[in-house]
Amino acid sequence: MPVSHDNVRAVSWTEQGLRLLDQRYLPNREDYLTLPDATAVAQAIRDMVVRGAPAIGIAAAYGVVLAARQAYAAVGADWKNAIIADLDRLAASRPTAVNLFWALERMRARFAGLQGDPVPALLAEAHSILEEDIQANRRMGELGAALLTDTQGVLTHCNTGSLATGGYGTALGVIRSGWAQDRIQSVYADETRPWLQGARLTAWELVRDSIPVTLLADSAAAHLMRQGNVQWVIVGSDRIAANGDVANKIGTYSLAVNARHHGVRFMVVAPTSTIDMNIKTGAEIPIESRDAAEVLALAGQQVAANGAQAWNPAFDVTPAALIDAIVTERGVVLAPTAEKMAKLMGLARHSASS
Ligand code: MRU
Repeated sequence: MPVSHDNVRAVSWTEQGLRLLDQRYLPNREDYLTLPDATAVAQAIRDMVVRGAPAIGIAAAYGVVLAARQAYAAVGADWKNAIIADLDRLAASRPTAVNLFWALERMRARFAGLQGDPVPALLAEAHSILEEDIQANRRMGELGAALLTDTQGVLTHCNTGSLATGGYGTALGVIRSGWAQDRIQSVYADETRPWLQGARLTAWELVRDSIPVTLLADSAAAHLMRQGNVQWVIVGSDRIAANGDVANKIGTYSLAVNARHHGVRFMVVAPTSTIDMNIKTGAEIPIESRDAAEVLALAGQQVAANGAQAWNPAFDVTPAALIDAIVTERGVVLAPTAEKMAKLMGLARHSASS
């Protein structure tokens, strides 16, 4: 039997609540939490039990189901008013990934006309968001892998895989597909300080799915490129502006600058739920600032000198001009511009623009 390279799932529904693989403790512990209400889901998103833009959106959609279930049991027909505070809590959990707001909007549109028990319809909608995300990832995997001609090695950043999505992954989905098709011989992953999504999560996921991975300190990336070991940098995104500027994990911008300098191509892989056409350029994207303790300590152990302060932006913005391809489930945009992004968003599914 062929190896599937796709065995990890981190988000699922149970009657007791939303079941999440707790990503704070990977790879040392594989703990699952079952969250009974929307407050717990919002807290789990904030604390990075679940993280990665599409997975955050999916978790929030199930959070709305839990809110509605609780409110309908408590107040019956007036449940829509009773969940407003929960919707606000979910929306306030993390600011940068637009998939969160996209998913909340989609759930809101679904419940607007509902009468009677809202749970079956809302649960079906949340399941659809999850399933469509996996389908989008598989489609992007095919489209992105097709770009990997003359490729020996690829470099990725953060975790964009099954752990960050409904399953399969965005950038890691392209790497899964490229690996399965023999288009990639070596996968390099940045460790991704300060939270170590690369070292802890990407490495765990790829090893588990039988794809060999070589980790490097983030600061080694330029040296790797100069040695000619990678032909593509492949990353995901948390929000893409209407002009093609891309917000992603801190360090992505440095990779793009270095890639352009070394003639390495730069691919961003994201579903259209990550594209925010209401935001003109990357300058308008809200960038989350996280706790200084994430930089001052490592695995709960202080590493910085006593008294030092830390600056901890969780994301940065890569200008469209440094990007060779944005791969979405609707098609590929080469050398993105505002015009090409608008065309993509107006196009029917599965057509390409370049
Ligand atoms: O802070 P995180 O771990 O939620 O950041 C995740 C990223 O930056 C990912 O690259 C992005 O969400 C795309 S995941 C498919």
